[in-house]
Amino acid sequence: MKIILATNNKNKLREFREILSPMGYDVISQAEAGADIEADETGTTFEENACIKAKAIYDLLHVPVIADDSGLEVDHLNGAPGVYSARYAEPGHRCERVLRELEGVPDDERTARFRCAICFIDEEGNAQFVSGACEGRIGHEKRGENGFGYDPIFLVGERTLAEMSADEKNAISHRGNAIRELTKIL
Ligand code: IMP
Repeated sequence: MKIILATNNKNKLREFREILSPMGYDVISQAEAGADIEADETGTTFEENACIKAKAIYDLLHVPVIADDSGLEVDHLNGAPGVYSARYAEPGHRCERVLRELEGVPDDERTARFRCAICFIDEEGNAQFVSGACEGRIGHEKRGENGFGYDPIFLVGERTLAEMSADEKNAISHRGNAIRELTKIL
């Protein structure tokens, strides 16, 4: 089955492919499908933003589309950066901002989670949602070279997601969990 992923984020595309390709799904990026757009993420929830992104591509191409909206929720910051994760600071400074805001906060108050909402729109335009989460905590410094975004500061157990292999991350990540839910409705 061919499916368009409504994203311009190469890391998300890679993770969707790592999980879905071995299951026989052919994940095509919106760029490969000829849709050169970036929808405005005006929603206040991950579900709303996933829906906005999927619908923008569906309205253009009228083929099955999936879109992911995801982000980091830090309990000590009342859920921030949340849906603003991609806009929390200039590129290359987002992890640093979270670390700065948690300076002096003890380990047991550094709990956080990644969330991922996926919107799937089928050929007829019907939308369905699945979601996934990954619980962890924010470390005290960046560690690891893998992954992307906030992975170097997000600890699951004693390792950050950036210190894990792609397979290890996908097995426990918010996106991995949401994608496995998605395959139940595809
Ligand atoms: P959006 O879904 O395009 O709004 O972007 C979500 C933002 O959340 C990304 O740009 C990253 O900063 C962050 N994010 C989402 N998923 C992950 C992940 O798996 N690892 C690290 N950061 C993530």
